[in-house]
Amino acid sequence: MRIEDSKLKAGLETLGVDLHSGTSLAELTSLGIGGTTDLLRITKHESIAHLISLLERHQVPYKFLGGGSNLLVGDGELPWVILQLAKPDPEIVLAGNLAHVDAAADLGRTVTYCAKHDLGGMEGLIGVPGTVGGALRMNAGAYGMQIGSYVREVKLYRAAERRIEILRGHEISFEYRHTSFAPDDMMLAVTLELPSKPFKEILQGIRICNEKRRSSQPLGQKSAGCIFKNPPGGSAGRMIDELGLKGLSVGDARVSDRHANFFVNAGYASAKDMLTLMSEVRGRVEKAFGVQLENEVVVWNS
Ligand code: EPU
Repeated sequence: MRIEDSKLKAGLETLGVDLHSGTSLAELTSLGIGGTTDLLRITKHESIAHLISLLERHQVPYKFLGGGSNLLVGDGELPWVILQLAKPDPEIVLAGNLAHVDAAADLGRTVTYCAKHDLGGMEGLIGVPGTVGGALRMNAGAYGMQIGSYVREVKLYRAAERRIEILRGHEISFEYRHTSFAPDDMMLAVTLELPSKPFKEILQGIRICNEKRRSSQPLGQKSAGCIFKNPPGGSAGRMIDELGLKGLSVGDARVSDRHANFFVNAGYASAKDMLTLMSEVRGRVEKAFGVQLENEVVVWNS
């Protein structure tokens, strides 16, 4: 979708929103799949409510993009524009055991920055791509930890209330790859409360997690991490592997040879290829194990 209206363009400029016309979502997502649309980059949190009203007045549909690392976007010209937060400087401010982190901050850089200041707990998240906002929204986790355990406070744009709110950690429910945030809430910033740990000790934990990840996941390839959630008490990767589906392909969409719950874009896969592959694998798993796999990847197909 393209923004052509000059009044709308002037309105965006007044709000400090940068318009990037004809942006390829394939370039903004770790899967490297997705069509084209206009990207609106927000430089001031305070302008979000006005921006949403402006877009609604001009009947422009929109979606919020984080780091694009857990996302499968449809092909071709997309029927909505993308809103994304610009990275502020600084992205992280520390005060004792509290880390105030902007939602646009890179998750891996946040883990290492905190580690260098003797704040640990998030070692497992090293190597998880994406932004802190994206990790928060889906309660990203690995190697026995999840980000939700460290959340003291979240600043978010509540779409239903049309205003910025602060939620305390206990007001949010964090479950396995799921939170109580509404789908249209936009994460703006988070305060994490992290345990004190000597840098050397944290570094050791980070090395162990990095090693485990390198040995079991296709890190150099285009993927969205695990494509399906694990069913309660089970492992999607193990079930897909047991069915001998590693290497199964539709076009350039392929079940990884390294980890069967990673579906990679081995070249120029389309969203249609990836969705067909997901549906094929989901069907075979259901037939063999009677388990319906739920997407972990977020699909924006319309
Ligand atoms: N397994 C296989 N074949 C495979 C993959 C896995 O047999 O191709 C087996 C493993 O040998 C192991 C079991 O399945 O016995 C579980 O595998 P793994 O330890 O790799 O963990 P996972 O459950 O597949 C989860 C998260 C990952 C996270 C790792 C490490 C989900 C869907 N996945 O994977 O998170 O990195 O644990 O904690 O919860 C993600 O969320 O995108 C993600 C990659």
